[in-house]
Amino acid sequence: MKVLQVSAEIYPLLKTGGLADVAGALPAALNARGGEVRVLLPGFAAVLADLRDVRTLSELVAPWGERAPVRCGWLASLNLTAYVIDAPHLYCRSGGPYENDQRQPYADNHLRFALLGFAAAQLALGLDGQWQPEIVHSHDWHAALAPAYLAFSGQRPAAPVASVYTVHNLAYQGVFAPELFPDLGLPGSAFSIDGLEFHGQVSFMKAGLFYADHVTTVSPTYALEIQTQAQGCGLDGLLRARAGLLTGILNGVDESVWNPQVDPLIPCHFDAERIGGKAQCKAALQKELGLSLQGDAPLFGVVSRLTEQKGLQLVLAALPALFARGAQLVVLGNGEKWLEDAFREAASAHPQQLAVRIGYDEHFAHRIFAATDVTLVPSRFEPCGLTQMYGLKYGSLPLVHSVGGLADTVLEHDREDLADRLANGFVFHEFTVDAFERALCRSLALYARSTDWNQIRERAMRQKLDWDRAAGEYLALYQRLLAKSV
Ligand code: ADP
Ligand code: GLC
Repeated sequence: MKVLQVSAEIYPLLKTGGLADVAGALPAALNARGGEVRVLLPGFAAVLADLRDVRTLSELVAPWGERAPVRCGWLASLNLTAYVIDAPHLYCRSGGPYENDQRQPYADNHLRFALLGFAAAQLALGLDGQWQPEIVHSHDWHAALAPAYLAFSGQRPAAPVASVYTVHNLAYQGVFAPELFPDLGLPGSAFSIDGLEFHGQVSFMKAGLFYADHVTTVSPTYALEIQTQAQGCGLDGLLRARAGLLTGILNGVDESVWNPQVDPLIPCHFDAERIGGKAQCKAALQKELGLSLQGDAPLFGVVSRLTEQKGLQLVLAALPALFARGAQLVVLGNGEKWLEDAFREAASAHPQQLAVRIGYDEHFAHRIFAATDVTLVPSRFEPCGLTQMYGLKYGSLPLVHSVGGLADTVLEHDREDLADRLANGFVFHEFTVDAFERALCRSLALYARSTDWNQIRERAMRQKLDWDRAAGEYLALYQRLLAKSV
């Protein structure tokens, strides 16, 4: 099964969030089950630098006149064949992949990412004479025009091609001013309610949802939530209309990156049977951060984008309650300034109990999961969430709001029924400080009962969370789609 996976980010080369983790892990998992996956990426500097044995395909000529060579080579850090759009004027810029140094979206984002979708469609139509995908699988709004360009190509590919579009987060839609629509080179008929028009604007997300042969999202619960008005971000009507072609497939954990038995980024290795190393990781982190060196103080952790989505205002509000109970907290994150400032201020007022690092630091994230007892993920909404699963792998029990993928991966223990063998963390249902604090208290109460705690932690660490199950579900879906398209 030849699959072209299309995304803007890929771990370890370029990452702003979980999208990169998924894009980096899914190809290997599909290949392990007999898939033949190649990836298509924008030519960001880190991607070009990683590409080996490069050959150049014929030049891409976009409908709006943009010309760019597509290179094909071997991504050394991923052991994968990749197609890369070599357009440095579009992709090699100071600043992030989507925003400039002042955190403003680049003015030409519609063209930068339309080109990604356009290149995907061209590959499906035979741009590389040696390899043509049977499935074009695009991820998030950056790659969402691929199904639209395929639908309007007016060409029949040499062999059947089906398109799959995965929503990682419906809140980020890639919406642009209507004046920019003609730049995209799609027919005028596409700018309609049955197309990519969204309240008079151009929506890349909607193109993916509307034109893909199948839509997936990253957890079964989120697949249901986005069909409701409350969580549909204005697209719930379309999602309900396409409900028969919408599937939730839960993400997994890349165990070649997240495994405390062998993780080179943590000071001491451990696993469910040999848990001793975890206490050493905790002591090392407390020392590194200047927290009081108490092995028995429950240590909570947050590794997160600091945005409205992540519900961290609950954490800020609950700090007095946490500190009053002798707990410690470490926060790693960056994002909205008010949240960064609020956490910084709180840390300077409580240096022995709260350590805050504002920034993005992959290595530090590993040390946090290894050291902490509880991983906090109080998100307002969460399509899947990966950090609660990293917490499970590293014996840092997740405490989560019961939404999206958090609801699908974390189950709270019932005091009466510790032996149910399913409990692996703490769950609160109402998005209120009160409900969050009560969940914190339950986690602290369990922490104080070390036999019960150890039992649940051991079970959590043994849970199978790898990518194999999801890869199987994606392959089965691809097969169904291809069977339909022949
Ligand atoms: P989202 O994609 O919504 O940000 P996920 O939980 O799916 O949420 O994935 C977040 C990913 O980004 C995880 O790999 C997490 O460890 C990582 N991450 C988030 N913030 C930081 C940070 N400040 N430093 C390092 N890693 C981070
Ligand atoms: C998005 C979501 C997150 C999900 C990730 C990977 O960034 O916010 O919940 O885990 O994509 O699918």
